Amino acid sequence: MSDWHRLEEVTDELHGRGIVPVHVGGRDVCLVLHDGEIHAFDDACPHRRWPLHLGTLDGPVLQCRAHTWEWDVRTGELQRMRAPECLVLHEARERDGAVEIRIADDAPPARELSELWRARHGAAGRS
Ligand code: FES
Repeated sequence: MSDWHRLEEVTDELHGRGIVPVHVGGRDVCLVLHDGEIHAFDDACPHRRWPLHLGTLDGPVLQCRAHTWEWDVRTGELQRMRAPECLVLHEARERDGAVEIRIADDAPPARELSELWRARHGAAGRS
């Protein structure tokens, strides 16, 4: 079982914005705070790998900014479509004022953000 990664610097931002990108365990992860629970999943959209942290939240439903696909962040399931393009979920919790994330042991290799995105927004692709 993988270790918990402790991220002390994102707690305030997550409580303020409700959605925050982080880089942890060698992958880009999107954090969402909903109903007092922290949800963590790979930040690259399963469709064309656009950053999910730029999407919009409506309750537990996150809509990707690029082509409006939607997922329930609690389950990772795609909404309104039948394609099995689920989010890659990770464990997340808040302990002693810090966010902690444990990358799923069965997570597939991390996907890079789309080449189009990186070309438009720089090599890091995180701005
Ligand atoms: S890249 Fe997210 S819906 Fe297409």
